[in-house]
Amino acid sequence: MSKTVLQLEGLEMAFGQIQVLRGVDLTVKEGESIAIIGPSGSGKSTLLRCLNRLETPTGGAVIFEGNRIDARSDFNRLRTHMGMVFQQFNLFPHMTALGNVIEAPIHVRKVSREVAEAEARLLLEKVGLREKADAYPRQLSGGQKQRVAIARCLAMQPRLLLLDEITSALDPELVGEVLDVVRDLARQGMTMLLVTHEMRFAREVADRIVFMDGGVVVEVGPPEEIFVRPKSERLRKFLKAVLEQTN
Ligand SMILES: Nc1ncnc2c1ncn2[C@@H]1O[C@H](COP(=O)(O)OP(=O)(O)OP(=O)(O)O)[C@@H](O)[C@H]1O
Ligand SMILES: [Mg+2]
Repeated sequence: MSKTVLQLEGLEMAFGQIQVLRGVDLTVKEGESIAIIGPSGSGKSTLLRCLNRLETPTGGAVIFEGNRIDARSDFNRLRTHMGMVFQQFNLFPHMTALGNVIEAPIHVRKVSREVAEAEARLLLEKVGLREKADAYPRQLSGGQKQRVAIARCLAMQPRLLLLDEITSALDPELVGEVLDVVRDLARQGMTMLLVTHEMRFAREVADRIVFMDGGVVVEVGPPEEIFVRPKSERLRKFLKAVLEQTN
């Protein structure tokens, strides 16, 4: 039985009067990759942001590696353990690819520049960008920038990866190279929660799919159950709408 990395118990989030998460329960085991799908506005990004405290949940519990996250937790440390990659790459524009990747290890993990650079070169190689170590973000394609962002995140040696629609801002022909990197990470046993609109990819790479609608988890299950035998009317409608869009 593998270890529980993350446990959510009745997680709630409200922005003023707007209740966005209405009691989310979820358990994530070590090595699992979980895809979160659901309509726009269903609370997927808010859920990820509540996990690493970019938002403060208004109710329920987030338990990471056995510790309940609360106001006294060290959020900076938490964010190094839970790495997050966004739709917009947020690279430092004035730093090279290598510079972007070594920044946090040097300043947060306190490793020497030599060690940080050696690790960063390996990570850039892992995401297929060995040749681009000295390039600045403006000299990189969207797919390359996103792969640098992933390498930068991995440089903090996260134990859980949060990926929020990381291919949504990319031209269609660049999506594949980023998904290849995510697929490799999943195979290597990285624990991850990924919000995605790429249903085919979710089906292929995820151990379990979480379908959210209206701030709750409506269904959770292995891909074949969710995509082939959806139980709820809401999920059937969502899948039908998504398939119509892509065909
Ligand atoms: N900072 C905020 N202030 C007020 N409302 C917010 C804020 N952030 C999100 N919301 C609202 O919360 C709801 C859920 O938003 P969220 O971004 O989590 O949805 P999502 O499932 O990620 O959607 P999408 O697929 O479009 O990215 C939306 O109705 C949104 O307007
Ligand atoms: Mg979102």
